[in-house]
Amino acid sequence: MASLLFLNPNPLISHRSLFLKPYSLSSIPKTITTTFSFRAKCSLSRRPDYIPNRISDDSFVRIFDTTLRDGEQSPGATMTSKEKLDVARQLARLGVDIIEAGFPASSRDDLEAVKMIAREVGNTIDEDGHVPVVCGLARCNKTDIDAAWEAVRHAKFPRIHTFIATSEIHLQYKLRKTREEVVTIARDMVGYARSLGCNDIEFSPEDAGRSDREFLYLVLGEVIKAGATTLNIPDTVGITMPTEFGQLIADIKANTPGIENVIISTHCQNDLGLSTANTLAGAYAGARQLEVTVNGIGERAGNASLEEVVMAIKCRGKELMGGLYTGINTRHIVMASKMVAEYTGLQVQPHKAIVGANAFAHESGIHQDGMLKHKGTYEIISPEDIGLTRSNDSGIVLGKLSGRHAVRSKLLEVLGFELDGKELDDVFWRFKAEAEKKKHMTDADLEALVSDEVFQPQVVWSLGDLQVTCGTLGLSTATVKLIGADGAEHVECAVGTGPVHAAYKAIDCIVQESQLV
Ligand code: KIV
Repeated sequence: MASLLFLNPNPLISHRSLFLKPYSLSSIPKTITTTFSFRAKCSLSRRPDYIPNRISDDSFVRIFDTTLRDGEQSPGATMTSKEKLDVARQLARLGVDIIEAGFPASSRDDLEAVKMIAREVGNTIDEDGHVPVVCGLARCNKTDIDAAWEAVRHAKFPRIHTFIATSEIHLQYKLRKTREEVVTIARDMVGYARSLGCNDIEFSPEDAGRSDREFLYLVLGEVIKAGATTLNIPDTVGITMPTEFGQLIADIKANTPGIENVIISTHCQNDLGLSTANTLAGAYAGARQLEVTVNGIGERAGNASLEEVVMAIKCRGKELMGGLYTGINTRHIVMASKMVAEYTGLQVQPHKAIVGANAFAHESGIHQDGMLKHKGTYEIISPEDIGLTRSNDSGIVLGKLSGRHAVRSKLLEVLGFELDGKELDDVFWRFKAEAEKKKHMTDADLEALVSDEVFQPQVVWSLGDLQVTCGTLGLSTATVKLIGADGAEHVECAVGTGPVHAAYKAIDCIVQESQLV
């Protein structure tokens, strides 16, 4: 069913990309004033034409999505070729600049899936004239690079991404190679990839976060000379802190020969939960390509999440990051998140930023009151901006912390009951008592409360007392006292086949008797 839903998604919004307007560095205010105007706003702007090693507007940052490669490396997240194609189509709708579609040398299936994506998605130009680059990963060897090229070369903009580790621990224990050997392999393999006719080559020094700086500058300088167009700096084990990672990017920018001729990229793993922060620190320091995955899936604790990075740039890029903007049409985020969760089986935690089920839900009374008065009080992003339509406009979820105001509006908005004064008080206190016992109060719970409190039947009889005698001898006997509407007490005894039967017979006697009066 899910695949049917995603096979032919019906975007409610046109595909026109929504961009934040770029601002020059000089427009950053010296002091930042925090106001409710933080709710992200969209304005149209043109995405710079694609040139592998250059971006004509320094405020534009490329989004490189690796959901289909690093994301698929999450334990248990394998997708079929058809599912990968669906995700790639959705990534194109989102407007990502580069889709890393897989690791073609890893299996025949992956090679075919990348080829299929390159042929279709890599040649479908949207109404803004945008077509994503399709990229394939390759280790620094000819077999991998050949496979990657065979898979991506069908795209309008094909890219080969090749990598080799540069940290001491990887050189010594994994590769068992000297630094000199690694430099030679990196330089030769980038040259080899170029020789195949690919003019868009990304190079990654794996485990850059733990690599010796001088060695990094050397390797990077050599691969630039060999023809690399993007240098991706991976924090492969997610060990760096934001200031540290930002400094790493700044140092590479300042010390690598020829760096002005290439794009610097980030690739931050999330082992310490810092991948988004590190990615943003990298962008702040000059990276103009950010590698991310939908829902932040990826090896171990995952990668920087597309939705967090993109929305952070959208919300704060203008004021705090020199006017940075992306080409992402954020209204397709929710659909992308759902599709990836569905296909990989990796469900999103409810409190996940941007795409979690609770990201736009407000439960405490104070927050609900604020939301009803002005949505900007507790929401920095409007849900529509990420393609979320919620069941009620205020996003109010009722629970034990909710206030009278929220209960009243929910009753009116969802159930159409307009309560005030004592009626509202009674429902509210019953609601509080129930909500203490339950996690969430559903609309149905609320409806039941209202019909209990407000639409109570007229009391004709109420139970005064009940006494039953029963045992193995049979002859169960019940004595019942009922109080009539006028307050008069009526007592009757009856014998039945069991205590319940006896009690009902006694009630019958009273009711029939009084009807006769
Ligand atoms: O985490 C990593 O280092 C990688 C590289 C291949 C970019 O995934």
